[in-house]
This record gives sequence, C-alpha cells and structure tokens, in this order.
Amino acid sequence: MNRITTLFLIAIVSIFLWQCSNSKETVVSSPNGRVTIQFKLDEAGQPSYAVAFDKKPVIKPSKMGFELLSQPAMAKGFEVSKAESSTFSETWEMQWGEQRLVENNYNQLVVTLVEKEAPKRSLIVHFKAYDDGIGFRYEFPKQDGVDSLFITEERTEFNLTGDHTAYWQPGDWDIYEHLYNKSKVSEIDALKKRNHPNLGQTYIPENAVNTPVTMKTDDGIYLSFHEANLTDYADMTLKVNTSDFSLVSNLVGSERTKYKVKRALPFNTPWRTIQISKTAGGLIDSKLIVNLNEPNKLGDISSWFQPMKYMGIWWEMHLGLSTWDYQGSQSMDTFAEGGKNGTATHGANTKNAKHYIDFAAANGIKGLLVEGWNTGWNHWIGFDEREGVFDFVTPYPDYDIAEVVRYGKEKGVEIIMHHETSSAPRTYEQQLDTAYNLMKKLGIHAVKTGYVGKILPKGEYHHGQWMVNHYRKVVEHAAKNKVAVNAHEPIKDTGIRRTYPNEISREGLRGQEFNAWASDGGNPPEHLSLVAFTRMLAGPIDFTPGVFELTLKPKPNNKVNTTLAHQLALYVVIYSPIQMACDLPQNYEGHPAFQFIRDVGVNWEQSITLDGEPGDFVIIAREERNTGNWFVGGITDENERDITINFDFLPEGKVFKAQFYEDGKQAHFEKNPGDYTIEIASIKKGDVKTFHLAAGGGVAISLMQ
Ligand code: NOJ
Ligand code: CA
Repeated sequence: MNRITTLFLIAIVSIFLWQCSNSKETVVSSPNGRVTIQFKLDEAGQPSYAVAFDKKPVIKPSKMGFELLSQPAMAKGFEVSKAESSTFSETWEMQWGEQRLVENNYNQLVVTLVEKEAPKRSLIVHFKAYDDGIGFRYEFPKQDGVDSLFITEERTEFNLTGDHTAYWQPGDWDIYEHLYNKSKVSEIDALKKRNHPNLGQTYIPENAVNTPVTMKTDDGIYLSFHEANLTDYADMTLKVNTSDFSLVSNLVGSERTKYKVKRALPFNTPWRTIQISKTAGGLIDSKLIVNLNEPNKLGDISSWFQPMKYMGIWWEMHLGLSTWDYQGSQSMDTFAEGGKNGTATHGANTKNAKHYIDFAAANGIKGLLVEGWNTGWNHWIGFDEREGVFDFVTPYPDYDIAEVVRYGKEKGVEIIMHHETSSAPRTYEQQLDTAYNLMKKLGIHAVKTGYVGKILPKGEYHHGQWMVNHYRKVVEHAAKNKVAVNAHEPIKDTGIRRTYPNEISREGLRGQEFNAWASDGGNPPEHLSLVAFTRMLAGPIDFTPGVFELTLKPKPNNKVNTTLAHQLALYVVIYSPIQMACDLPQNYEGHPAFQFIRDVGVNWEQSITLDGEPGDFVIIAREERNTGNWFVGGITDENERDITINFDFLPEGKVFKAQFYEDGKQAHFEKNPGDYTIEIASIKKGDVKTFHLAAGGGVAISLMQ
C-alpha cells in the first residue's frame, strides 16, 4: 500500500455455500442498513438485481448479461454455484483531495454463476453495498475452453421506478463537452444534440446519456449513475427507454472492430455505480467512486506534485489576442479568430512568458501553462493528416524553453508543459520517450494533454477501449517520469486518481473556453450548478475559473454569463488540485477582488456541501489543509436568490477574519457582471448570515485565522 496510511482495517469474511435447491434470492445491505441490493436468478437462470433505499425500491429488478462475438450470449441458463458475503471497513488518506481521510465501509456479496449446460461458462458478480450507494462489477474468471472474450455489448439494466427528473448530457462517443439538460426521463432526446457547431468532434449514435447522469425521484431521492475504475474496457453510456423509464448499458464501440471490448481471461469489468442520497449535496460529499478504485500504486508523489494555482498563456489565444502558431497564418478559427489574418502575434514567446512569471510570482501563484510553444500548430485543426505534425520537443524560434523554465524556477513558478496531440495518439505514443525526456531534463513535473479532433487511426472514438488504454498508458508513462497529467478531451474520470495520484485533473466538460468562442451564447448561468451535481461526481475538473473582464472586450459577440463573485466562488465550488487563474494579468493587476484568488486554498482537509439543488444553486465549504483556514463558495443560476449560511461548521472557540466577496447591488450576469463588494468581518462558530446572490451571481468567503 506504499505510503497510504490505512488507519483502520477490518475484514470479516463469512463464506457460505449456496445450495442450488434453496431460495434463488439473496440480499446484501449497507453498514447502516438503509441501502439494500437484492440478487435473483429467475426460472430461466437469468440474473437480475434490484436496489432499495429505506425499504423503498429505487431500482426495479434489472437484468445483467453480455453479448459476445462468435459465442452464445452469457445472459441466462445460469445456476449459482457459490455466494460469499463479507464486511470491509477502512479509512484511507488522500494525498491531495477534497478531504484528507476517506471512510470506505461496505458489505459485499460475491455470487458465482455457472451455466447449467455446455459450454458451462462461469461469471462472477461482485456487489458492494455502501451507505451512499452501490457498486457492482462482473468478473470473468479463468476457465477451460475460453482464453479471451470479444464483447459486442454489455446488457446491464437500470430499471427506474418512475419518470424521474434527469440532469443529463448525450451519450457522445467522442466528447463530453455538451451542456447539461434537465428533463423528465421520458423526454430525453439525445439525438437532438447531434452536430453541435462548436465541437471538434462529436458522435451520438443512440438515444443514450453519458455518465454521471443524475436524477431526482418524485419522492425527493437523488440518484446518480456512473462507473468506477474504467480500465481496459469501453466507456459505458446508458441507452434510454423513454416509455418504461429503463436504462441499459451501451458501450462505446469502434468502426475498426466487430466488438466493443476484447479481453483475455481472467478480467474484471469496471464497477457500475449508483450513488443514492436524501439530499443533492450528499451526492457531492459521497466518495463512492474513489472508494471503488484500487489503492495508490505510486506511493508518495508530494516531492514532485503539490496542488497549486496556475496561470496560462492560454486565455489570450482563446480571445484571439494572440495565436498558438508562430506564423499567424493558419487560422485557429475554431477557437480564436485573431489568428486568421495574421493580425495577432504568437503568444508563447520568451518575453511574454517572463511577464506572466513575474505576475504569478508576485501573487503566490505557483504554475504557468504555456500553450503554442512547439512547432506544428500551423497544421492542426482542419487537417486530416495529423500524424507526425507535433514532436513535443521543438520550440518555435521566439521561445527559449530552457530560459523560461530557469527563470520560472528562480521566481518559484513552475512551467506546465503542453502536449496537444491533435488526436494523433499513435504519434504521441511514439514520441512519449523523447517528450518526457525533455521534461525530465528541464525538471518539468506537470503536463496538460489535449485530444482535439477525430481520432487517428480513423474509426476509433475518444471513449472506446482503444483510447481508454491510450490515456492510461500516458498516465503510467508520466508517473514513471514523475509527471502529473491534466488531460483535455480526456476519457471521463472514474476515480483512477486514487490509484494514480499523478492523474490530477481533467477537462471532460464544457469549460470556460466556450464563453470565449461558442456560437450558442456561451455557458448559461446555471452551467456550474448543473456540473457540480453531475460531472463533478466523477472527479476533479480543470474548468479554468477566474475571468474578471467578463464582457470579453476583444470578442464583441461573446461574454461570460456570470458575475465576478460567481467566478470567485468557483474556486471553492469546483474541485481540482490545480486551479487556473485564467484571465490576463492586466485584468487582475490592482483589482481588489484578486485577493480572494491569492488567498483561496487548493488542497483540503475536509469539504461540506452546505446546500444546493441541481441547476439552481450550490454552496460548498472547504477547510484548507495545514492552515485551518476555511473558504466558502456559493453560486446561483439565472435567478437571484438569498442564501443563509450557518457557520456551524467552524471549530469551537476560534474567531476567523472573514472577507465576503459579494455581488454588488447592481450586479447581474447580463447587465452588470463586474459589480461586487468586499466586506470584512469577524466570524465564529454559530454565526448565521444571509447573502443576496444576483442573477448569475455568487458569493465567495475566506475565513482566515
Ligand atoms: C482544447 C482545450 O480544451 C484548450 O484548453 C486548449 O487551449 C486547446 N484545445 C488547444 O490545445
Ligand atoms: Ca476542450
């Protein structure tokens, strides 16, 4: 377990042999008894499971099975040869995270199924019942006559108990950068979301949703469906039956193969997960997804990765003020119009990088991302032939990478490497050694990767098994070279950060960048209030908050649909161990509200979701590790609202120096986004205060000792 501190570990295993003639039903309940999973084999030997919460069904009996290439399906004709139950309880420590200690307590049921008739194949189902939800996965054990399996489809059903309200985005095989939608399950229409003009690649074959997909039942129970530990398998989307409110797994495939997953036996599938909570905030506070991942394989990485705030030669390109490419000839028009006529200049030059480093150093910001530093950007978007375009080691002539890294080190600012693969992962894999050797030589320990465009080789999708394995290969290669990875256009997060703590953050959502160039009006004010209860359940998000010049003067047709206080609140609401201060230094220079970005923590002792409702608002409080300082962020959608914060979460007997960054009286995301106030006060446990959030607004609070 390397240096993870396991404080408490009990495993009591009770094993009993299943008598085939006995009852064909068995049950496992969570430690507090409120979540129950019932497993059953029907007359035809077809396995199914059902889930109850507080004795009420939340998932009706739902079948399980697999369709295979050149083999009969594994779906029925089973009998149970063995069922084992056990209890597990531990507390483990996150090296960095939303909290330091994580409770991992569950009861498990492992059912071994064997076909009654030839070929008598066997399949083992593992169920774990937690107080905050359930997970189950399939194990294909080693068995005679079957070396490997070619899965054409997994048939795991999730039969809902009604027409719940769903917070969803389409099951796109190539991107997760859609807006979230709110509708009844019966009204989900993913196909309507096809061909969004601002997506570099998109493919929505079915009326399916991506996970995490979150729902609210008419009884007010919150459910979220996702997966944990997606390893050497295809991403699971969920196909929606709008008439009977059932979901069924629909794996991401490939145009190059007749199967969706190829595996040698023995192997385990990812965990299929359902988070269950009486409150919406309970979903955010749940650690089910990381708990269902393997413990840390890398040991202590703190000597080379520490959570940090960072800036970037980045927003200026998205605003069209500068270009990624040196010549300014090839347009980045999908992103920034500025490059089109050669009117803007190359952003990643030594002088500019030093300017950012100076600003970062003066403000305690520890990282600088530099995009567009390497040759190849003139042959990026819009080209079919992208193999070999980037080599990830050759800088443009105006960028002295060694000098920039040296200067940064002198000032205490580390350079974050950028590898835009342009979705040519074969080229990237060939270049991994040289690319990471350069980082080693320079002493660079973090990289942002990118995968814009259709995948080469043609026929693969971003979320298929082939790419899942590519993304993992990169994380493992990076770990060997002491490099932390922040992937854009990534595979979705399934909690792998527990096993590979160098997988620090990722995109996998509609980020801030859409505000700079999307032709659909940008992210609506409710965006992050939806993201917090959906995408964020998967793990850390590189959203890149912190726009202060919200009208985006260089882009007259675009703007940010939030207030300034909302942007500040995002440093607390959206969790990531790396948080960008994305705006230009000149927009921060001398701005009183920038103090919040200087002060706010990035690594937390504990986090508490105080209140919230998907798509409406959310308020989160987090205690910084090692300082005992607290920070609170609250955001609202397009509706103004009052929120009351009870400072009960603070420790007894301490008085905190509080700064409230609030929406000003005139603040409004459309009419006056920059209006804010700062108030200083003393706050202690038990104090209660009401804040007025403007339309699209927020509140950010620092509570320092
Ligand atoms: C898309 C990424 O999300 C964005 O952050 C980056 O600047 C561009 N690709 C270029 O790599
Ligand atoms: Ca992106």
